[in-house]
Amino acid sequence: MNNAMRITGKTKILFMLADPVGHVVGSHMLNQRFLAEGHDVAVSPLHVASADLSIVLNAVRRMRNVAGFGVTIPHKIEVVSLLDGTTERAARIGSVNFVRREVDGRLYGDNLDGAGFVDGLAHSGITLRGRRVLQLGAGGAGRAVAFAIAEAGAAALAVHNRDGAKAAMLASEVARANPGCLCSADANDPRGFDVVVNTTSLGMHADDPLPLQLENLDAATDVAEIIMSPEMTPLLMAAQSRGCRIGLGKYMLQEQYKLVKMLLNM
Ligand SMILES: NC(=O)c1ccc[n+]([C@@H]2O[C@H](COP(=O)([O-])OP(=O)(O)OC[C@H]3O[C@@H](n4cnc5c(N)ncnc54)[C@H](OP(=O)(O)O)[C@@H]3O)[C@@H](O)[C@H]2O)c1
Repeated sequence: MNNAMRITGKTKILFMLADPVGHVVGSHMLNQRFLAEGHDVAVSPLHVASADLSIVLNAVRRMRNVAGFGVTIPHKIEVVSLLDGTTERAARIGSVNFVRREVDGRLYGDNLDGAGFVDGLAHSGITLRGRRVLQLGAGGAGRAVAFAIAEAGAAALAVHNRDGAKAAMLASEVARANPGCLCSADANDPRGFDVVVNTTSLGMHADDPLPLQLENLDAATDVAEIIMSPEMTPLLMAAQSRGCRIGLGKYMLQEQYKLVKMLLNM
């Protein structure tokens, strides 16, 4: 029984807020890591609809054994205005994915997605400094990843998104914060790029189209994914079969474990 979780009144409780909730795997990863390192922390997914987010946050403010909560689709942007404060990077990105509950009940948010993504690339040997990056997607996670790519020293960042206005806005915001990175909104054509990053949700479902013009992808381009499930998306399989170096989305989440501990002062 030594390696079984023992949840008691002393255990710090974390939640993962999502809607739908069935795809959430981050709770399992965090529980495994907390257990392995001997931390008395337990994480549970919570299925929370957008209309109830404010009520749930107010309840959490009053739950004294809650240390914090993760936030995922569709709450990352909406939650910002409901918190008592955020880090500067979360404010810049405009979305939050982890919240610390202070002892007095105040809720303080950060966005760990971008730093987790950049740290996770190291597992695959993919680098960003001085490289030209094409990012597919400009959603909640995509915004965090774009700022982090520029901050990691990419020479150029092109953003492609179904909603092109969101891509253009994200590119101009990242450019303003990172004058050394040449930012633009672009097509989903990998020609001329060193790294392609998929931050869209295309690839989660078997019948999704590919997010990229695959015919123009060659072996010199690295392809990274932020989708965790499935681990090998059709994009990654296609990139691997073309000889590209690939980066798995699971490493982005794994790296966030260290960042969650820092946010929780553990
Ligand atoms: N590995 C990790 O640690 C990690 C962390 C966070 C998220 N994720 C994963 O990242 C993915 C995106 O999450 P998110 O929070 O950023 O979601 P989101 O805010 O809803 O953004 C979704 C993105 O996908 C695009 N998209 C969705 N359906 C599309 C379609 N049919 N055709 C073209 N583009 C489409 C959206 O484009 P529009 O703007 O045009 O709608 C947007 O860019 C999810 O799979 C999530 O599980 C992984």
